Amino acid sequence: MSTTHRAILLPGDGIGPEVTEAAVRVIEGAGVKVAWESLPCGLAAVTAHGDALPASVVERIRAVKVALKGPTTTPIGGGHVSANVRLRKTLELFANVRPVKTVPGLETPYGPVDLVIVRENTEDLYAGLENLVAPGVVTSIKVITRRASRRIAKFAFQHADAWDRKRVTAVHKANIMKLADGLFLDCCRESSKHWEGKLAYDEVLVDALCMKLVRRAWDFDVLLLENLYGDIVSDLAAGLVGGLGLVPGANYGRHAAVFEAVHGSAPDIAGKGIANPIAMILSAAMMCHHLGEKAAFTRIRRGVAAVTKKKEALTPDIGGTATTRQLTDAIIAEVKAQP
Ligand code: NAI
Repeated sequence: MSTTHRAILLPGDGIGPEVTEAAVRVIEGAGVKVAWESLPCGLAAVTAHGDALPASVVERIRAVKVALKGPTTTPIGGGHVSANVRLRKTLELFANVRPVKTVPGLETPYGPVDLVIVRENTEDLYAGLENLVAPGVVTSIKVITRRASRRIAKFAFQHADAWDRKRVTAVHKANIMKLADGLFLDCCRESSKHWEGKLAYDEVLVDALCMKLVRRAWDFDVLLLENLYGDIVSDLAAGLVGGLGLVPGANYGRHAAVFEAVHGSAPDIAGKGIANPIAMILSAAMMCHHLGEKAAFTRIRRGVAAVTKKKEALTPDIGGTATTRQLTDAIIAEVKAQP
């Protein structure tokens, strides 16, 4: 008899409920049984509980250990602190992994892309240490620690090895932030020594990386980045393969894993039924892999590829006219048709 897994579902805000519903249907279509516990997070939780990330929600994720999360809205320049940042810090979800791969059938001007972005998730400028030191003068503190840098570097090499990748590139700006990024690089170099002969290692300045990615993304394999560089480079890389609606992600910690797309709550298209569910569906595939459902992981990825190759039910962001539901239905049909 097949196992029924337990997982927390955080539909989130904006297009979150639309794309998480799609992902849940695809998981079911792939034959994976999940007993979901749906909880509010983000603006929805502010409305219901006066807190974007209620302690009870964190406790449930800690207990169940796996969550599928929709994007949450964070007000700009004021208002509540990002539920994402709090979730990643509170649960010590220190490693953010974002595979960015050319989507079969979708032409882009950027050539073949097959990258894995490994982003440190708990510190850097995301520490939220900002001070108004005098009128018109603000400091924002970048925190880089040996502990967190070692931990993410070790993870990146282990992940690269486990997924049969060949090279890890550390991304930095240590010519300017000599101490902070210098410390990060020290830790990357230290980890690379353990993998000599098995995994290649090199380094690139973050600004040069952006130019190189646009020109020759195929030169890169696994990118290892601090939090802010990882955030920015992820969106750039998503642009290389056709947009934010296509790139999945996972946040791993020692005690829990939370799977979520790279994109945000897309308020400009929320409620219109046209959000691209692929990024969330591929995040759900990563969740299946994490749960040990490796066949479902492969079937979902192949199902998505089969649909994009046929170009029959694509949403507007990738050149089609289909709705979220139509694209999801097409993916489910292809997932079921996989051996
Ligand atoms: P966004 O990713 O929500 O949207 C950027 C652009 O991409 C928009 O034009 C949007 O329509 C489009 N887009 C994004 N996902 C799409 C999809 N699945 N299908 C079709 N088009 C898609 O970024 P934005 O506008 O900067 O942020 C909106 C809100 O989302 C903010 O409150 C931000 O804080 C939050 N956000 C949350 C994240 C999370 O919860 N993990 C990550 C990034 C942003």
